[in-house]
Amino acid sequence: MNQLADRLQQIRTAALEALENITNQVELEEIRVRYFGRKGEYTTAMRGMGKLLPEERPAIGKLSNQVRTQLMETIESVATDLAQQKREQQLLAEQIDITLPGRSAQVGKKHPITQTLEIITYIFHGMGFQVAEGPEVELEYYNFDALNTPPEHPARDLQDTFYISEGVVLRTHTSPVQIRVMEKQQPPIRIIAPGRVYRRDYDISHTPMFHQVEGLLVDRNVSFSELKGVLYSFARQMFGQQTEVRFRPHFFPFTEPSAEVDISCPFCQKGCRTCSGTGWIEILGAGVVDPNVFRSVGYDPEQYTGFAFGMGVDRIAMIKFGITDLRLMLENDMRFAEQF
Ligand code: PHE
Repeated sequence: MNQLADRLQQIRTAALEALENITNQVELEEIRVRYFGRKGEYTTAMRGMGKLLPEERPAIGKLSNQVRTQLMETIESVATDLAQQKREQQLLAEQIDITLPGRSAQVGKKHPITQTLEIITYIFHGMGFQVAEGPEVELEYYNFDALNTPPEHPARDLQDTFYISEGVVLRTHTSPVQIRVMEKQQPPIRIIAPGRVYRRDYDISHTPMFHQVEGLLVDRNVSFSELKGVLYSFARQMFGQQTEVRFRPHFFPFTEPSAEVDISCPFCQKGCRTCSGTGWIEILGAGVVDPNVFRSVGYDPEQYTGFAFGMGVDRIAMIKFGITDLRLMLENDMRFAEQF
């Protein structure tokens, strides 16, 4: 009897000690098998029960139950601790530092040309002009013939115009929109036509694609002085109230008389690099609509007069935003676009 009792006590002491040094589930399982497996130490010891005298049994039975319960509970609690530890390690390993600033999405900006087009449109809208549009791939007829530009005119030269096919070109200016509008509408007409135009030009200040805004006003008794008034108003709203406007005589096939129009340089009093030392910057061509243009759309030149202008938007954007290299406009660099 004492022998078995001693053995149980030994098992208890040894097992408890072993359980104190467990570091993982595998070791724990080994301990459990070592004592309670089919050939385990406890199991084996308990086979000695049969040899006990009946009066010895209650006491040993009680002791063996105590040892079994205590060890099982300890194994259970070690298992819980291990699971807990494992979970804590996992949480620690998967920890996310929420104090790091987030990655913010990059917000786009409108291109300076788009912004300039919007300002120009806004200003002319204020003077009662409506926006009209026409195709960039245009018939030679609209780009030249209907605009009183004869077949032998140098502007038609392959040197200047991109030809798509016989009679079809990339429009070299926005003036063909004048014809398309007048073919569909009767006077009074008051439109602007913003858009892309194309010429075979490529150097520091010319790109093969650039932008123009065309203007056309047709009514009875329209005179050159009204053209001046409109362009003065535009120039001052665009570049400031101190802006001066200068008209230089020029020639366009579709206007007569014609002028090239300069604004006083917004950057200097007299002479800087932007105005190449002259104090003036050319921004558009303009004139009184040639009677031949009216004839080509079936308007009676005896009844109607009008004026037209075409301005270079890229040039105006460069002046407006102080951009010195035209090529920057086409590079799609966010660092450039973000500055405006
Ligand atoms: N179409 C001309 C150009 O591209 C500009 C212009 C338009 C001139 C309207 C007079 C009238 O140079």
